[in-house]
Amino acid sequence: MRADVVSIFPDYLRPLELSLPGKAQQKGLLDLRVHDLRQWTHDRHRTVDDTPYGGGAGMVMRPEPWGEALDALEVEGATVVVPTPSGRPFTQAMARELAGRDRLVVLCGRYEGIDARVLEHAAARTELLEVSLGDYVLNGGEVAALALLEAVVRLLPGFMGNPASLVEESHEDGLLEYPVYTKPAAWRGLEVPAVLLSGDHGAIAAWRAAQSRRRTAERRPDLLTATTAPGELLVRPAV
Ligand code: ADE
Repeated sequence: MRADVVSIFPDYLRPLELSLPGKAQQKGLLDLRVHDLRQWTHDRHRTVDDTPYGGGAGMVMRPEPWGEALDALEVEGATVVVPTPSGRPFTQAMARELAGRDRLVVLCGRYEGIDARVLEHAAARTELLEVSLGDYVLNGGEVAALALLEAVVRLLPGFMGNPASLVEESHEDGLLEYPVYTKPAAWRGLEVPAVLLSGDHGAIAAWRAAQSRRRTAERRPDLLTATTAPGELLVRPAV
């Protein structure tokens, strides 16, 4: 996969060279390129923002540098991903779908967001997805891009040493994962549940499934009533 990330704070994305995405690059699974949006400005102050039409607080990112960035990156055929609190909720299913794309281009907005025409124009050229990490507001798209790319990159075919570990984790089956334990069997007066020491694989699987359901009912009852059909397209191709 090739992933381009455009930001006015390219240093913010340095962690992508480390840890997990760094490993994917070493393995040749990921070609990651971070770009400074200001290289596509032409004034002395390298301006990227301006006041909003219609008034209101804050600044909006001007369309011209973004337009030039998308031209220079030749986004046709790529999936353009824009982290924004007004996007669609980012999910494991979406991460899996994006992991199947050949190329992602992530646009990191700042301030009150990017002029809406940039996204309209990009959506007419290629697949575009606005995603939200959750119902809270970050200062910009960079931290969201880090999280999003980490979720996607670990799903790239060939990345995980043991792909079985992907199957059992939280959200893969629509439920939260059961609690996990390791040695010692007793620690500070707390015992590992006896069933896990029983060697009875059927009983262990049943206990884990029940724990998953209980946790999900307690913490995320919304997941139990989720209506997204399996295989429903989470990323809509451009028409
Ligand atoms: N940018 C700012 N807040 C965000 C959020 N919650 N999710 C994704 N991108 C964002």
